[in-house]
Amino acid sequence: MNVDVVASTGSMIVVSNRLPFVLQRNKEGNLVRKASAGGLVTAVAPVVINGNGLWVGWPGIHLDDPNEPIPESDPSDITPTAGLKSEKVIAVRIDPIIFDSYYNGCCNATFWPLFHSMPDRATFKGEHWKSYVKANKEFADCTLKALKSLPRHAGEFPLIWVHDYHLMLAANWIRQAADDLGLQCKLGFFLHIPFPPWDIFRLFPWSDEILQGMLGCDMVGFHIADYCLNFVDCCQRNLGCRVDRKNLLVEQGGRTVRVRPLPIGIPFERFVELAEKAPRVFGTTQKIVLGVDRLDYTKGLVHRLRAFEKLLENHPEHIGKVSLLQIAVPSRTDVKDWSAELTGRFTTPNWSPIRYIYGCVSQDELAAFYRDSAVGLVTPLRDGMNLVAKEFVACQINIPPGVLIVSPFAGAGETMHEALISNPYEIDDASEVIHRALTMPEDERILRMNYLRRREKLNDVNYWTKSFLAAMGSLVTQEDHDDIG
Ligand code: ADP
Ligand code: G6P
Repeated sequence: MNVDVVASTGSMIVVSNRLPFVLQRNKEGNLVRKASAGGLVTAVAPVVINGNGLWVGWPGIHLDDPNEPIPESDPSDITPTAGLKSEKVIAVRIDPIIFDSYYNGCCNATFWPLFHSMPDRATFKGEHWKSYVKANKEFADCTLKALKSLPRHAGEFPLIWVHDYHLMLAANWIRQAADDLGLQCKLGFFLHIPFPPWDIFRLFPWSDEILQGMLGCDMVGFHIADYCLNFVDCCQRNLGCRVDRKNLLVEQGGRTVRVRPLPIGIPFERFVELAEKAPRVFGTTQKIVLGVDRLDYTKGLVHRLRAFEKLLENHPEHIGKVSLLQIAVPSRTDVKDWSAELTGRFTTPNWSPIRYIYGCVSQDELAAFYRDSAVGLVTPLRDGMNLVAKEFVACQINIPPGVLIVSPFAGAGETMHEALISNPYEIDDASEVIHRALTMPEDERILRMNYLRRREKLNDVNYWTKSFLAAMGSLVTQEDHDDIG
């Protein structure tokens, strides 16, 4: 089979909170598309486009006129979503007040911290929950309309793929409404963040409803086995479902739901190409320890800065020779003061311990930063997977390569075995791990990086999408594809 062809048998509908692009108004007041970044878009867009599928999601702007058409992509657009025609896009329209309470309230102030095992940061408000229910109903209704519009071919069931913590209720409603209308379909769900242990999950007052919503699917996917086991455990303890832990099965309402670990990958070859082309970004005299994150409390940036400070205290031989470059996409501002303190304490006229880029950088620049850094420091306090760790190793094309440090509390820490593992909460040890990375012999660096790169190349984003489709029984074979096309 040709590995480049990834498509689903039957039609496909992807449902996610954000569409793969956001709409903005230009100076003339016309709507224009701007590509959304991130793993979900890169991974899923080609499958939807190859399979002539549909995408249901929020367009990133509140549209007053429900009939205002979605614009086509700009001819200069080279992002994966450029091939997605507007007729294939269903923009979900939600009242702005409900949307705010659903997205900022329930999704980001409740589920995000709770599912990252930080319950003290979570708020539990009935109003937010009601909005979450309403918003999920809206997404489910739009998906049903899309399902009704699809052409039907004998023996093929459309595949509906629902994504992430924003939409944990939608699947069950889609299933019920489709059953009532006699529309057969397959339903799959993938959670891009961790699924927490039962003792954390049950803090959510409406946790039963969440499980029932997800169990509306035929298959529920998570990044790693631990999240699968947490989910199975919650189904048994909250809902009293019969479960099979060995085979990861949950019985619910006379159906058997499959639960599967499907670790997401990156477009490995694309990052290699970018790294091969990008000009050098650093001089050769200093070593760079690199962090790349959205500015979010789960990413452990304060702990990272403390560990770097400890490194300079305990190993002053690095002063003047090593800098921490933190690239952070704006989302919070609370770390800035701390970094200013550290910068003031160690800076010399020719050297600063910390360089801080506050904003989004382009992918070619990012590839150059990854390639030219001595150490990739990926130390979240908790993270579903963490794509930065994978992008870093893809771009390590220099010989000898750099060293990856990963937190054991990221999904990537479970699978990238040859990385150095560093517990971000243990500041002294974390600083020693950075020292070890900076002083690691060349042959050990080469050996570790070769294994890491080989695994990520094999388990790239195409592999992830294919694994999902195969788990749904919807993977097109090369023969099928030749017949279609
Ligand atoms: P999360 O999904 O929680 O943000 P991931 O590490 O899984 O974390 O994914 C983050 C994605 O965002 C990666 O693809 C990374 O390249 C990108 N990214 C993170 N920071 C920046 C930045 N400052 N500029 C551009 N892209 C960034
Ligand atoms: C995480 C989530 C995604 C989300 C992304 C950016 O990766 O798993 O679903 O799209 O963060 O967050 P935002 O709220 O800006 O969409």
